[in-house]
Amino acid sequence: PASDPGLVERARRAKEALGSRVFVLGHHYQRDEVIQFADVTGDSFKLAKDAAARPDAEYIVFCGVHFMAESADILTAPEQKVILPDLAAGCSMADMARLAQVEDAWDTLADAGIADVTVPVTYMNSSADIKAFCGRNGGVVCTSSNAQAVLEWAFRRGQKVLFLPDQHLGRNTAVLQLGLGLDDCVVYDPRRPGGGVSPEQLRAATMILWKGHCSVHGRFTPEAVDEVRGRIPGVQVMVHPECQHEVVLKADQIGSTEFIIRTIEQAPAGSSWAIGTELNLVKRLAANHPDKQISFLEQHVCYCATMNRIDLPHLVWALESLVAGEVVNQITVDAETERYAKEALQRMLDLPG
Ligand code: 13P
Ligand code: SF4
Repeated sequence: PASDPGLVERARRAKEALGSRVFVLGHHYQRDEVIQFADVTGDSFKLAKDAAARPDAEYIVFCGVHFMAESADILTAPEQKVILPDLAAGCSMADMARLAQVEDAWDTLADAGIADVTVPVTYMNSSADIKAFCGRNGGVVCTSSNAQAVLEWAFRRGQKVLFLPDQHLGRNTAVLQLGLGLDDCVVYDPRRPGGGVSPEQLRAATMILWKGHCSVHGRFTPEAVDEVRGRIPGVQVMVHPECQHEVVLKADQIGSTEFIIRTIEQAPAGSSWAIGTELNLVKRLAANHPDKQISFLEQHVCYCATMNRIDLPHLVWALESLVAGEVVNQITVDAETERYAKEALQRMLDLPG
C-alpha cells in the first residue's frame, strides 16, 4: 500500500529541519515507505562502513535491526547517537547465540584440547557481546559479502573455525568457496549437553558450525527451485547464502543482498529470475526492473517480521523527537564490550576488498 501522505510530509519536514545533523541508513530489507527516506541503502557490510564514514552526523537513524544499530554505535564516535526507530526490531538468528552459551561452547572446545587452535568467527548478525567474545579470543566478524575472505584469514591464524551463529552461511562458504568437504563440518547445538557432539568429532572437524539459522532464508526449499525451473523456462535462480545448503547447491547464483542487486542491474532485458531472499527487496527489484521478469522463489516464505517493524510511523516519531530535542530509542554498547567488539569488526574492515 502507498504510504500515508500526511506521514510522508511529516518525515520530509523533520528530515529537512535536521539537515546534515541526521544521517538515515536503510537496509535493503526495509519497507519502501522507509527506504524513500534513507540517505544510503546497503547490505549489512556496506551500512557498517557507511555509518563509520559520517563523523559529522550528530544522529544516525538506523532503519534495520538491533545488531546493525549496535555495530553502528561501535563504529561511530562516542558523541554520535545511534537510534533504532523500534526497539522490537531484533533478529531471531542473532538471538540464537547468547554469550553464556558461547562461553560454554568454548569451554567444551578447551576440554577437547582444541580451543587454542580454533578461531571464533561471528556473522555480523549477532549481538555486540558475541562480537566482543570473538575480539577477545583472536577472532573476527564477517558478513555475507566477505565471508570467504574472512574465513581464509581465520584459517591462516588457526586450524579450525567456530562459526557463529548461522550454520548455513558457515557451511555454504566453507564448502563452496573454500573447498572443504561436508564431513569437515560439525554442528554444535547449544541446547544439548556438550553441543551434542563428542570430543573426537570436534577434534576431527575443521568447521564447527553453531546451530543457528535465519527464520526467513531457512524456509526456502530445494523443491521450490525445481518447481520454478519447471514453471519458468530459462529462469535463473539466485539465493542468499543464509539459505540451506541443499537450496544453494541448486541455485545459479549465490550472494549477499548487494550482490543480488548488482546482478539484477547488470542482467540483460528479458531475462527471468527467481530470487530467494527477503520479500521487500525482491518486490523492489521487480518494480525497479520492469524489463526483466523477477519472481519470489517460494510463495509461502514471507517478510522478515522484525525488519518490517520499522515502519513510517516509527520513523516519523524518531525524527520528530529529534527535532523537538529528544533522543528516543538510542542504542548504546557499554565501553568494555565496545572495545573488544571493535577489535573483531576492525579486523574485518582491515581486510582488503
Ligand atoms: P546482508 O546481505 O545484508 O548480509 O543481509 C542478510 C540479512 O539477513 C540481514 O539481516
Ligand atoms: Fe535476522 Fe533473517 Fe531477519 Fe536478517 S532476514 S534480520 S537474519 S531474521
